[in-house]
Amino acid sequence: MPSPSLDGVAIVTGAGGGIGAAVARSLAAAGTSLVLADRDRSALEAVAASLPPSVTVITGVGDVGDPTHHAALVTAAEDLGGVTVSVQNAGVALTGLSWEVPLEQWELQVRTNYWGVVHGVRAALPPMVRRGLGHVLAVASGAGLVATPGLAPYVSSKHAVVGLMESVRHELARAAPGVRASVVCPGNIATPINANSLAVADAAGAADVAACEGSAGDGSTAAVARQIDETVRRGVDSGAEPQTVADAIVEAVSTGRFWVLPQPEVALGALDRVQRIVDGRPPADLLI
Ligand SMILES: NC(=O)c1ccc[n+]([C@@H]2O[C@H](COP(=O)([O-])OP(=O)(O)OC[C@H]3O[C@@H](n4cnc5c(N)ncnc54)[C@H](O)[C@@H]3O)[C@@H](O)[C@H]2O)c1
Repeated sequence: MPSPSLDGVAIVTGAGGGIGAAVARSLAAAGTSLVLADRDRSALEAVAASLPPSVTVITGVGDVGDPTHHAALVTAAEDLGGVTVSVQNAGVALTGLSWEVPLEQWELQVRTNYWGVVHGVRAALPPMVRRGLGHVLAVASGAGLVATPGLAPYVSSKHAVVGLMESVRHELARAAPGVRASVVCPGNIATPINANSLAVADAAGAADVAACEGSAGDGSTAAVARQIDETVRRGVDSGAEPQTVADAIVEAVSTGRFWVLPQPEVALGALDRVQRIVDGRPPADLLI
């Protein structure tokens, strides 16, 4: 079966920093032409400017929740010779108790993390299927395989992405076996995702929201929300380097691997979850 070589054309969303910027650098080093996208123009342009001048790079500023943004990215990649790899990576994460998180923050996370991938996959697959060659990858999360408290919108959007990509993989195996799908499930990675997400949401921290007069919380749950928020932040701050994920993505493009779990503890967490389902035991709270 042919494999989409790394010297083709890749779309990377969320390329303005963190994991997406590391993926862009790794693909550039492998000789891939790039269509890089982000909602943050200055961050995106800084990443593009840092890449070797020998690499062809086009940038596209937009919101992954908007399908016309993805159509424009695919058109740009087709003009460069045809999209071979699509890395749907943009995402946001906001903490809070599920009944207290403002509805706008629920919707922002589902729109970005889930609908962003749906739109990206739906835009990239038609030309790939037509040519019988290509690879769509979605950056979900370990939170797509297990559930933590205080991240219900994030967890549910990432579970949805894992299910989506499994379905897509089965469909491609039947309808276009030369086109591959992968789902990437990192554990904690040291990026500014928390601060970036709060900035996008134009929001204060979750604990502040819970304590806020007039919010759905009555203040009595603020300590729980704050403690979870701190634990989540500590985890991200002490996480692995974004390059760990970029290396795993480049390897997945080379091998066609579906499950991309750069950190072994994520697979162990998923295994424990399934064992608890089999045994009829309740799920583990991974933040304790
Ligand atoms: N950092 C972690 O611990 C971790 C763990 C597992 C999975 N992930 C996932 O990895 C992906 C990348 O996250 P990161 O940690 O590099 O975060 P990050 O905040 O450093 O990078 C995310 C990028 O996406 C962009 N973005 C956000 N919303 C957007 C939108 N609506 N449209 C276009 N661009 C948008 C941001 O501007 C930012 O440049 C996300 O999907 C995240 O859920 C992160």
